[in-house]
Amino acid sequence: MDMRIALFPGDGIGPEIIDAAKRVLDRVAAIYGHSFVYENFLIGGASIDAVGAAISDETLKNAKKCDSILLGAVGGPKWDDPNATVRPEQGLLRLRKEMGVFANLRPVKTYPRLYAKSPIKDELLRGVDILVIRELTGGIYFGKKRQGVDDDGVEWATDELSYSETEISRILEFAFRSAQDRRGLVTSVDKANVLNSSRLWRKTAAAVAERYPDVRLEHMLVDTASMRLISNPCDIDVLVTENMFGDILTDEASVLAGSMGMLASASVGTGSLGIYEPIHGSAPDIAGKGIANPIGTILSAALMLRCAFGLTGEAEKIEAAVEETIAAGELPLDLGGSAGTRALTDQILNRI
Ligand code: NAD
Ligand code: IPM
Ligand code: MN
Repeated sequence: MDMRIALFPGDGIGPEIIDAAKRVLDRVAAIYGHSFVYENFLIGGASIDAVGAAISDETLKNAKKCDSILLGAVGGPKWDDPNATVRPEQGLLRLRKEMGVFANLRPVKTYPRLYAKSPIKDELLRGVDILVIRELTGGIYFGKKRQGVDDDGVEWATDELSYSETEISRILEFAFRSAQDRRGLVTSVDKANVLNSSRLWRKTAAAVAERYPDVRLEHMLVDTASMRLISNPCDIDVLVTENMFGDILTDEASVLAGSMGMLASASVGTGSLGIYEPIHGSAPDIAGKGIANPIGTILSAALMLRCAFGLTGEAEKIEAAVEETIAAGELPLDLGGSAGTRALTDQILNRI
């Protein structure tokens, strides 16, 4: 049976890392006898340049006919004018919203070979295994945006951070179910000492917790969490939080893994279509040089095989090949190695 995969390379290093992940998928297909059918779509700056919108209605309609979405990254200096009415990032936000993917899963693990690449001490990195669950379709990213000029001619702008009880409880439910299959601890991160929306978050988390007596819930303020994440990372199992806190905390968490290029993500939710993408951006500073680290995207493809298609063995095969490649010291430039995108992908392909 054909499995239809929508590819959204996007901007910057996007096309390079999507090409790497596609080569890995092709190898898996050849070995296991699967048929992956790809369809390419425009998003971000590439779409703005082509059709004037960061994602078109036509693209959304056609992508919805696929079985899964693999995405590179969007954005870049070319489209960064603060006065622009259309921005590459809007395409990504619209895609996430339209697909209803409210739960963004960002696993964080460490690799012994990479301990020395992290500024964090080895003994803190040993055994790190965190699942960050970032709420992805609500909060400040999607609240009302207003701007204007006051009577004195001073410009002002606001972004509203709003959550409903329904939005909070469904992401917390997700976190508790995930923790049941892991170490049984949910760390719910908020700013309840200041934000109204966080107080609702905390109250709702406590209510959901009553349905999961086998899971322990701890509340943590986001400022404290940003410190604990790097001072006591092994104490965290499932970390669940609102959209923007999750965005920021996972870039920080990537330092545990060694670099931004390492972290993968799976976004799932109300619909049948998930979005799989690395957590990093389009890295305009290294785009087109063939040196981007493809591991975050390759691991996202593995998550796609597991979560979208139930191909657990195939996903594990890719993850093991990545692990072996790292253990053998074949490393990309962002981890102090010398392997370019293609060469590193070849190393991973050889081990699949
Ligand atoms: P970035 O994540 O693109 O890059 C931050 C730093 O990490 C850069 O030095 C970059 O070279 C490095 N880096 C990131 N991914 C790498 C990889 N795979 N291999 C090697 N090095 C890598 O963040 P930024 O520079 O702040 O943002 C650049 C653009 O990307 C912006 O337009 C931003 O909006 C966009 N962005 C998009 C996404 C996304 O599409 N999901 C995520 C984050 C940022
Ligand atoms: C990410 C990115 C995006 C986000 C941007 C590009 C909209 O930083 O996927 O982490 O903030 O969600
Ligand atoms: Mn981000």
